[in-house]
Amino acid sequence: MTTTSTSRGTWGSRLGFVLAAAGSAIGLGNIWKFPIETGENGGAAFVFVYLICVLSIGIPVMITELAVGRKTGSNPVGAFKKLMPGSAWKMVGGLGVVTGLMILSAYAVVAGWILKYIWFAVSGTLSGKGADEIGAIFTASTSSGWQSITLLLFFLVLTAGVVVGGVQGGIERASKTLMPVLLVLLLLLCIRSVTLPGAGAGVSFYLKPDFSKIDFDVVMAALGQAFFSLSLGMGTMITYGSYLRKDDNLATSAAAVCLLDSAVAIIAGFMIFPALFAGGVDPQAGPGLIFVVLPHIFNNIPFGQLFSAFFFFLVAIAALTSTISLLEVPVAYFVDERGWSRKKAAWLVTLGAFIIGIPSALSNGAVAALTNFRSGFMGEVFNWFGEFSLVIGGLALCIFVGYRWGLKPAIEEIRQGSAEFFASGLWGFMIRYGCPAAIAGILVSKYILPMFE
Ligand code: PHE
Repeated sequence: MTTTSTSRGTWGSRLGFVLAAAGSAIGLGNIWKFPIETGENGGAAFVFVYLICVLSIGIPVMITELAVGRKTGSNPVGAFKKLMPGSAWKMVGGLGVVTGLMILSAYAVVAGWILKYIWFAVSGTLSGKGADEIGAIFTASTSSGWQSITLLLFFLVLTAGVVVGGVQGGIERASKTLMPVLLVLLLLLCIRSVTLPGAGAGVSFYLKPDFSKIDFDVVMAALGQAFFSLSLGMGTMITYGSYLRKDDNLATSAAAVCLLDSAVAIIAGFMIFPALFAGGVDPQAGPGLIFVVLPHIFNNIPFGQLFSAFFFFLVAIAALTSTISLLEVPVAYFVDERGWSRKKAAWLVTLGAFIIGIPSALSNGAVAALTNFRSGFMGEVFNWFGEFSLVIGGLALCIFVGYRWGLKPAIEEIRQGSAEFFASGLWGFMIRYGCPAAIAGILVSKYILPMFE
């Protein structure tokens, strides 16, 4: 599907693109991070703000990234260079490249835990155990530095292997069948979760919003989560859009990906929160949240061991289609802008991600200084690159398209392939005024105003 080092390719079909973009979007962001954020930020009220962010900011920004990507046929740095030659705007693309590398380094640590859980499932390590015991096993496992580093390396090599080997087509074809299966499993697990004794409290935590819980920390977390989950703000969708064909409909593809991604997140929450309350786990459990709650569900279903092995395998595939897209951004940059071969770019970026990922791997119990540093080294990587930097990137993109490149050429690009872009007026308003004002307002309220208090 994507490129060789000599020619840039295009997606095989419209569906091929939607699947690849959805593959990038759907991942640990939905199944692991969304429940954590929801748990830490007050439950239903957070979900409410999150959905508003997806609809009002996520969809227009995704359309914009795709348009910039298709117009320029470039990685993020090249895209800004082509549209505004000689300007400093390319630094926005550069921030995206760095952000991709940083997120990849921490994301692969968590993906490594998923691999570990496939093994736990097969070996029955967690079978029949209560939440406390499962929590202790999880902590013991993440505290092992060598294990975490090995799993990190393993997952990164897997990702690089796919990106270099050009077997992406195969992965896409496989995920075409595997992801619907994941969705079915998620739904089945939801049913078990809400029928567990004591699940009711979880259902109301997840569905009954307490609006008094909303403050700017919650709003910023929701906005950041929307960017992270939709793979926006660092140029992933610019890069993926660069492989789009001119006759693809950008607006409907973007909306489809955003809605699909949010649906998976909402369903994942439905699976986690009832079971969380049923199992007596703290909603603020942090990175270990789903790793403690999920085994509790599997321990309460027939053939749970089998189910859980299969489930974690599918989650690993979902994570892999996301890490592929994280790696793809820096790789496309080094191939397009620096003339590296795809192979060299992929392996060197992977090496970089591995080295940067080591402190993350060691920050979940292995090394006290890294673990206790604010929200832990890995937590800080997710906070600054998986949230703050993506939001800054999104803001810059809106300002760039709204005021520099211009709405008109952008709309022209979006209109290709879809005779009418029926929401172009609304889209233009959001990109010029709505999104920048909302994002800037949230950033100022969360980071700047408190300094004057
Ligand atoms: N959206 C992916 C997920 O939800 C993570 C990701 C973020 C991928 C940013 C690419 C860019 O797991």
